[in-house]
Amino acid sequence: MNSEAAEEGTMITSTSASASESEKVDFSSSEIEYVSYGGEHHLPLIMRLVDEELSEPYSIFTYRYFVYLWPQLSFLAFHRGTCIGTVVCKMGEHRNTFRGYIAMLVVIKPYRGRGIATELVTRSIQVMMESGCQEVTLEAEVTNKGALALYGRLGFIRAKRLFRYYLNGVDAFRLKLLFPPLQNSFLLPMNKNDGHYHQDYLQQEGCSESHHG
Ligand SMILES: CC(C)(COP(=O)(O)OP(=O)(O)OC[C@H]1O[C@@H](n2cnc3c(N)ncnc32)[C@H](O)[C@@H]1OP(=O)(O)O)[C@@H](O)C(=O)NCCC(=O)NCCS
Repeated sequence: MNSEAAEEGTMITSTSASASESEKVDFSSSEIEYVSYGGEHHLPLIMRLVDEELSEPYSIFTYRYFVYLWPQLSFLAFHRGTCIGTVVCKMGEHRNTFRGYIAMLVVIKPYRGRGIATELVTRSIQVMMESGCQEVTLEAEVTNKGALALYGRLGFIRAKRLFRYYLNGVDAFRLKLLFPPLQNSFLLPMNKNDGHYHQDYLQQEGCSESHHG
């Protein structure tokens, strides 16, 4: 989301390349502990990661808006007691649809490429699905290849391009994940030939972009 959307409590994220690439850490995936938001003591951990890694500045009110109202949708990843990743989300009615929204997703550099962001976001989406969400949305910078690849692998489509969405002047893609009405198959392996479902949606909504993520 961008800052304006954050202040309205309606939107999400972008990237920052400010921190230098750190050394990779040697660890086993089983050492990573995933916990859902557990209270005020988690707030500074989330804020530190997001402030360091995302380009949009958010106030403490924005963070509180998300974690106080939807604590069950925010998760943190820990390695040996250190918070190394987080996802922050919300859900609610939007134009007659009950939808989830991924506001912030960060994994610190030494831990990237090991599936931690995928695990964090999958946990949030699972709760959204169980809560009756029909779709999940977010925004990502059009230049954020990592995030676009990650969400594309999870089945998100590029529904719209938002001109100069972020404060840094970069455009965003609005990404959407649609849950089929009769089967919650998001966590099953993607069938490469099932694009007809997305295409139906795009025609119905009149979205400006039609490439798949
Ligand atoms: C985007 C981000 C959260 C990914 O975290 P991560 O833990 O490395 O992601 P995962 O290991 O779960 O990646 C899963 C898939 O995403 C894709 N991916 C992730 N990072 C990628 C990169 N830098 N380049 C290309 N593909 C990437 C790949 O498809 C990867 O699958 P693979 O392991 O088979 O190659 C992390 O790079 C980050 O925090 N970036 C800065 C903040 C940000 O951009 N947040 C998202 C804003 S929308």
